[in-house]
Amino acid sequence: MYKIMIAIGLISLFSLTLHAEYTNTERIRDMKTMEEAMMKIQKGLLIDDRNILSKGVNQLQQVTRKVEPPLESNSVLAQEDTYKYKFSRKEGEKIIRFAEDIRVDMNAGNKHSASKSFVKVLDECISCHNKIRKWQDK
Ligand code: HEC
Repeated sequence: MYKIMIAIGLISLFSLTLHAEYTNTERIRDMKTMEEAMMKIQKGLLIDDRNILSKGVNQLQQVTRKVEPPLESNSVLAQEDTYKYKFSRKEGEKIIRFAEDIRVDMNAGNKHSASKSFVKVLDECISCHNKIRKWQDK
């Protein structure tokens, strides 16, 4: 009985840690999805198709909620308390908000405002990439 309980405990602990870890491979896959979503949004803008644009916005918002920064293995803080993590969350929130602006502008028939909001999203992508590069250089 004891052995079974320990085995069950170990399995659930193992699956918990598996679940908690966000790997580099997952991040690269999610980044490719973000890029794909941005291309959909751009296409929607170029061919004046609200449907495609809206699909791209949904896709971008969904994937952005999942993205996490690289783990800070030598930190004494919990991952959620690190500056990197908080910064990434903030970037993500901005991306979600500006993406919604693109949709609102497009639905209001204002493509120029929509394209400005598109660039705002792109700027957030770049900000995070710039910062991450610095973190990686250290
Ligand atoms: C939370 C930070 C963060 C945000 C925000 C972010 N990225 Fe990234 N992105 C990364 C990291 C980390 C990598 C891996 C960088 C490296 O290894 O140099 C990456 C890499 C990429 C790559 C290269 C993937 C590959 O094939 O190797 C693409 C494309 C990309 N991001 C697109 C985007 C787009 C588009 C956005 C905005 C909609 C975005 N990213 C926003 C952190 C971010």
